[in-house]
Amino acid sequence: MEDNLLYSDADFRRVQNIAMREAGIWLQDTKRDLVESRLARIVRGNGCKSYAELLNLAESSGGSEILTKLVFAITTNVTNFFREKVHFDHLQAEVIAPAAGAIRKGKRFRVWSSACSSGQEGWSMAMSVMTVIPDASQYDVKILGTDINADMVKIARSGSYRRQDTDGIPEVLKKKWLLPASDDHLVFSGDICALPTFNPMNLNGEWPFRGTFDAIFCRNVVIYFDAKTKARLWERLSGRLNPGGFIYVGHSERIGDPLSCGLEPVSSTIYRKIR
Ligand SMILES: C[S@@+](CC[C@H](N)C(=O)[O-])C[C@H]1O[C@@H](n2cnc3c(N)ncnc32)[C@H](O)[C@@H]1O
Repeated sequence: MEDNLLYSDADFRRVQNIAMREAGIWLQDTKRDLVESRLARIVRGNGCKSYAELLNLAESSGGSEILTKLVFAITTNVTNFFREKVHFDHLQAEVIAPAAGAIRKGKRFRVWSSACSSGQEGWSMAMSVMTVIPDASQYDVKILGTDINADMVKIARSGSYRRQDTDGIPEVLKKKWLLPASDDHLVFSGDICALPTFNPMNLNGEWPFRGTFDAIFCRNVVIYFDAKTKARLWERLSGRLNPGGFIYVGHSERIGDPLSCGLEPVSSTIYRKIR
């Protein structure tokens, strides 16, 4: 129990409903205590004596800002540069390198980090592109990063990271693309900054863009979704992949029935859109 703040099973069930309704996130019953500690700061920050009081505020007509903060607080944002490096090796060898010639002749090339958190995945994609095509910023090459948590998206956009959080970046790439921003922060600089764009977006809501992608990373996010939400998402993501394009999922995630959404597995966590 967080100090003297009142927290009941009914409060937890209300948060479960909010998480499902607002983000498609299914909070299992085992997350009861985690939710209590994640929300404690918001309960106190809004001068509430109980979780019920906060939830009433969040669901009142003027409560949308609190509701948004509540949803942000229940998201898990752990990430790092070149996480599951095998995916970036595959992206480089099987997607970027084969497309390089066409890109130089004007081909549109798009990669999507679809639950980008604070941006490490998107910036790792950008470094992968620049490694293969050093002049990529002159062509029609873009990386889109989206996440429901706008606070994380702000960090992604800044391109500024604590030194200790940049450990996953090989030294040679660090020297090439990052400059000291302060004693303890490094910031991306140079041509690479033309590639990524980061925007807040709910994967389970409307997608405010039309284009398709050569590769989509959807990693370590569907673990928070229920089966129906996952199935619908795979279908929608597949619809946004160019024929022959790839979708990458987290190491503990699988696309249940890939063929039914036009995908074929090429490894346990990489799927190709059937042409
Ligand atoms: C554990 S992080 C994964 C980050 C990165 N993809 C990786 O694998 O390192 C999960 C991210 O999914 C985001 N998320 C959760 N539900 C979402 C939704 N409905 N739409 C978009 N992003 C969501 C969270 O905000 C969080 O930043």
